[in-house]
Amino acid sequence: MNYSEEWFKKFKLHLFETIDSTNSEAKRYCFTNLAEYDVICSKMQNAGRGRFGKSWVSPEGNFYCSIIVPKTSIMDKMSQLSFVTALSIEHILESIFTKNNIHKKINLKWPNDVLVGNKKISGILLENGGKNNEYVIIGVGVNLLTSPNLIENKTTSLKSEGVNFLKFEEFLDLFMISFHKFYNIWLESGFFTIRENWMLKAKSIGEIIHVNTGYHKISGKFIDIDLNGAMRLLLDDESIEIINNGEVYFEK
Ligand code: BTN
Repeated sequence: MNYSEEWFKKFKLHLFETIDSTNSEAKRYCFTNLAEYDVICSKMQNAGRGRFGKSWVSPEGNFYCSIIVPKTSIMDKMSQLSFVTALSIEHILESIFTKNNIHKKINLKWPNDVLVGNKKISGILLENGGKNNEYVIIGVGVNLLTSPNLIENKTTSLKSEGVNFLKFEEFLDLFMISFHKFYNIWLESGFFTIRENWMLKAKSIGEIIHVNTGYHKISGKFIDIDLNGAMRLLLDDESIEIINNGEVYFEK
């Protein structure tokens, strides 16, 4: 496969047939190599990991990838990379749907899920890497061919939405072109444009939602995300709660 030069000359690709987890491999890279801008992909994972210690079911046919980026002077803002990544995925799904004449709603669920018709098609797992946490690992899973049956989430795949099977390498190229573009926007102009674009596609802004922060469950009206990417919720007593991490539920 001839990958597009615009990303291929900056990133170093490592493509595996099978692996435990691309994020775990990326962590190992960060300890042993100069891992800046390495991209670890695999066609299958046998120990794929999701957020909150959950597993990520990873059969052949779907997309699994981890990008290693160096921490920069905007180090404390690295969680914004999940918005950068979610937007990159949203943009390629939009263009794939347009090409295939598919009219399905694509939404972004805070902080970093991509939904099609309210069903999860992609998840992102950000982790630290390196001896001094000098890297961020951005793990991305996209359901191309199949999606798991989960109790907690409705899920879908590109195939279920009517997209003919896309080869792993084709999707990888589209994803990396898109990621590279949004990553550069973020590096050059910060979170502002990313935030604006993310909010345009955000699910449930202005609606009552429920969030499990890991410490407590809280309900309120989803106002927006702040300049760091934290969610702002308007509570019944008119106070505003800032939530940095958590899992959103739309129904109780
Ligand atoms: C989530 O819980 O929504 C995040 C899922 C992230 C899954 C991806 S697949 C590629 C990378 N390797 C992993 O083990 N996890 C991430």
